[in-house]
Amino acid sequence: MIVAGNWKMNLGLEDAVSLAADVVRATADNAGDVTVVVCPPAIWLDAVSERVSKSRVALGSQIVLVESSVAFTGEHSVGMLVDVGVSYVIVGHSERRQLFRESSAFGAEKVIAAQNARLVPIVCVGETLEERDAGDAVSTVLDQLAMSLEGTGPSFVVAYEPVWAIGTGRTASPDQAQQMHAAIRSQLASNGHGGVPVLYGGSVKPANAAALFAQRDFDGALVGCASLTADAFAAFVSAAGAAS
Ligand code: PGA
Repeated sequence: MIVAGNWKMNLGLEDAVSLAADVVRATADNAGDVTVVVCPPAIWLDAVSERVSKSRVALGSQIVLVESSVAFTGEHSVGMLVDVGVSYVIVGHSERRQLFRESSAFGAEKVIAAQNARLVPIVCVGETLEERDAGDAVSTVLDQLAMSLEGTGPSFVVAYEPVWAIGTGRTASPDQAQQMHAAIRSQLASNGHGGVPVLYGGSVKPANAAALFAQRDFDGALVGCASLTADAFAAFVSAAGAAS
């Protein structure tokens, strides 16, 4: 099980460092075999890295670019992320797809760059409400997945994040999510990636975590809003530990 916190563009420096310290404390004794990851805004990676190093909390980045040492204003290379102790990177989040027009093909380039640097990409996929209402949820997600993994290696994590559930307070039901996870798992397995963890993201709360984690094809969660409070985040970690 993996529980990853996506802090998005939240928290100032002081609050980010203090949340990192609180997460380290709150998960020190209850994590069991659960992999715990925090993904602060890039500008706070270094400071948060100091707080989580020597703990069982791993550091993830919300951004990554394909190239190293290239003239690319405003971006961060995999080498820079490695230098500050990052081990996971979020790729293809729907906010990047929608707001910054990042394509699945670009995501695949990032996945490859991350894997070459031994970072573990968390590859996000998810359908919009229109796609779900049109009955295209599964095909949309599986297409995104195939394109995001084109030419990539074996080490990665998938996060199914229905766009209509992100930041809306509306979580996919355990059945809806399980159906999609099973479809994702089966596509991964037919490409030789049967053991890849499949996480769920989209308005997960401590109150619905246990029901989601109890589903067969769930390997954890990518938590947005609820990862900004150490106690809530630790509750996911406990729920994941209990379900594993
Ligand atoms: P949320 O975000 O938990 O706030 O819905 C999840 C995500 O976007 O990763």
